[in-house]
Amino acid sequence: MDKLHIEGGTRLDGEIRISGAKNATLPILAGTLLANGPVTVGNVPHLHDITTTVELLGRMGVSVTVDEKMRIEVDTSTIKNLYAPYELVKTMRASILVLGPLLGRFGEADVSLPGGCAIGLRPVNIHVDGLRAMGADIVVENGYIKARCERLKGASLDLDAVTVTGTENLMMAAVLAEGETIINNAACEPEVVDLAAFLNHLGADVQGAGTARIVINGVDSLTGGEYDVLPDRIEAGTYLVAGAITRGRVRVKDVNPEHLTAVLSKLTEAGAQIDVQDDSIELTMHGRPRAVDVSTAPYPMFPTDMQAQFTALNSVAKGRGVISETVFENRFMHVLEMQRMGANITLDGHQAISEGVEQLTAAPVMATDLRASASLVLAGLVAKGRTEISRIYHIDRGYECIEEKLHQLGAVIKRVPD
Ligand code: UD1
Repeated sequence: MDKLHIEGGTRLDGEIRISGAKNATLPILAGTLLANGPVTVGNVPHLHDITTTVELLGRMGVSVTVDEKMRIEVDTSTIKNLYAPYELVKTMRASILVLGPLLGRFGEADVSLPGGCAIGLRPVNIHVDGLRAMGADIVVENGYIKARCERLKGASLDLDAVTVTGTENLMMAAVLAEGETIINNAACEPEVVDLAAFLNHLGADVQGAGTARIVINGVDSLTGGEYDVLPDRIEAGTYLVAGAITRGRVRVKDVNPEHLTAVLSKLTEAGAQIDVQDDSIELTMHGRPRAVDVSTAPYPMFPTDMQAQFTALNSVAKGRGVISETVFENRFMHVLEMQRMGANITLDGHQAISEGVEQLTAAPVMATDLRASASLVLAGLVAKGRTEISRIYHIDRGYECIEEKLHQLGAVIKRVPD
């Protein structure tokens, strides 16, 4: 397994292009299952999670072609298995996103429960309850969600919690259902809006995406078409923090700055100078950043997917910072690794309380999940000495060409085989 080696201490300075959003591409690729004609999806990032999704569609018998520009053409006319196997789902929870489209179009789906579901259905209970309310007959046996239905029927759904993939799954299921579906307490993330725009582009009738109330009027069929995915706000935010933590200057282009409002406001509070243009953001950090308090919450509040990166920023910032994680339990694995690099961070329930140190020191560390790995890269960029990060396959799930992009900004980073 490859490792990343980072020599800390370089001030980043430069410009990079932001890739298409992973979290929009995954539901959009699942959504292609609803279309009667061929669909081409562009601005797709080159990531492991995308490869997993392509494999998942391929196993169903769907014809998938990827060109050299990562435009993916999907043709479902050859589909034969309405099935998402455990060995793929366990590597990527978002595979659950095929459940809604398969059921909505073909009336049948067998989808493995995502890995790590020690407490039964909880992580997907909202998806399952919503589909049942639309008339699906669902049993869970042998680790699989087995769902069957005649044509789904529109329903009024009040989601118990704000869930991004839950909202997306139910939206996709409703597109071909009979009548009107209302999703209340829907997630408002830009990726949900992008999925709705994609579905509407193919002939669906989805209104209100981006608000807490989405109304879907079922149509008889969707056509094929072409669609480009929106830019990745989390990738952009991560590189901006890289600029801030190294007291440098980083310009990210091909972004939608509106999607980063909460993140930019915290970076400004940390002392960064931010210059926003139509589709680019430039950050300059003069001197040592100030620690900030952050509380994660569904969009438009501060994203949980930027929490680990701000924990890294606080670890070397001036003063005390409190990071509160309210979306996921147990999302502080990176803190233990940062402590090994000399960070002064105390965990207290769902809070990470830091007293910034002047300098971190390099150490061998291990990536435990996608955003945690990004935060260890950030810590490595400012640590004294050479940080070695292992298990970097987590990073490759969500950051396209991370070492090339950081290299472009002046970082001393390389990938080495173990
Ligand atoms: C998506 C994102 C992920 C991000 C997360 C929160 C994708 C592919 N992934 O994940 O990067 O960190 O949103 O912004 O888009 N929950 C339930 N029951 C359910 C569903 C969710 O209790 O049926 C709970 C979860 O345990 C969690 C919270 O709701 O505590 C939010 O999770 P959710 O929004 O569903 O996350 P994902 O959609 O999996």
